[in-house]
Amino acid sequence: AAPELLLSIESTCDETAAAVIRRDGTVLGQCIATQETLHEQFGGVVPEIAARAHLERILPVIDTALKQADVCGEDLTAIAVADRPGLAGSLLVGVVAAKTLALAWSKPLIALNHLHAHLYACQLIDGAPANIYPAIGLIVSGGHTSLYVCHTAIELEYLGGTIDDAAGEAFDKVAAMLSLPFPGGVEVAKLASEGNDKTYSFPRSMIHDPGDDFSFSGLKTAVRYAIAGPGRQDFSTLEISDQVKRDVCASFEAAVVDVLVSKCRRAIKRHKNRNKSNANEANRLIVGGGVAANQRLRRDLQAAADQDGFELWIAPPHLCTDNAVMGAIAWKKFEAEQFASLDLDITPGLQR
Ligand code: KG4
Ligand code: ZN
Repeated sequence: AAPELLLSIESTCDETAAAVIRRDGTVLGQCIATQETLHEQFGGVVPEIAARAHLERILPVIDTALKQADVCGEDLTAIAVADRPGLAGSLLVGVVAAKTLALAWSKPLIALNHLHAHLYACQLIDGAPANIYPAIGLIVSGGHTSLYVCHTAIELEYLGGTIDDAAGEAFDKVAAMLSLPFPGGVEVAKLASEGNDKTYSFPRSMIHDPGDDFSFSGLKTAVRYAIAGPGRQDFSTLEISDQVKRDVCASFEAAVVDVLVSKCRRAIKRHKNRNKSNANEANRLIVGGGVAANQRLRRDLQAAADQDGFELWIAPPHLCTDNAVMGAIAWKKFEAEQFASLDLDITPGLQR
């Protein structure tokens, strides 16, 4: 029989991506067009620019992935697209493309939750158990910082999340204050690795709060005060020495990572006690999203896992930031026969 093939489409924010994925998980073709250079001058993703760039690129990106895989539309088993959460204009482009191709090629359509896909990237790690679920899941991205109980790949229970900025957003805002290139997370991490993380004692907001919520806006303000003092500042005219930049980045990164690690440990401990009958559920942490590429976070989570005795799977760095390969989760929806209809709408503002 011909292999079963999925076309996965991703356009939730500022990457246009497509992948062709076999049912056994093998990626036959993939293409990502990033928009970094388009948004750089604005210091953040501009929604209308993002939508127009998706519009230009979506079909060439899909075409490239299909050609790389050496398949044509008729060969596909299903077409999947992330329909939530994200920027409305960006989501619309991917969803319209997927619906149109599903109609033209008479293929079933599958709608994906982008956040669930970020965590599913852990299932794609070489050597991961055949079924990585159940687990506690941490998503740390530019738009989200949330904890879940993941009963299965597609059944997640929200535990808590940020009440203000996402962790990645805080990285990006600190980068902007230091006039580092966009997107800032990688740049801040690079400088942090050369700085002293004890120079500034930045707040670990809500670290002692027993719940699973996070807050990063106070930390962002503390960094601003450390750099420029109180009051409004034009950061572009501020002279900041390279040493100060390195130490601010290191101290900031330490504060973010401390909170993330501490909250994960607590969530896992709590669930271990609650679900003694289902030890797996409590004892495995899976982590995805752009900030999961951060080396310090990866190192400190591993140290916590070793010390507390839980299993840890962090998405491979190239699958942490937005991509279509994590859309392999669509096979789980395929198996559960959860298909979308041609009147599928987008759900931009979903927070959980
Ligand atoms: O998952 P993602 O590509 O997009 C969203 O769905 O939001 O995450 C992007 C975020 C950005 O805020 C970026 O600055 C951050 O991930 N990021 C990092 C690193 N690499 C990307 N933050 C810290 N350290 C990194 N190495
Ligand atoms: Zn994402």
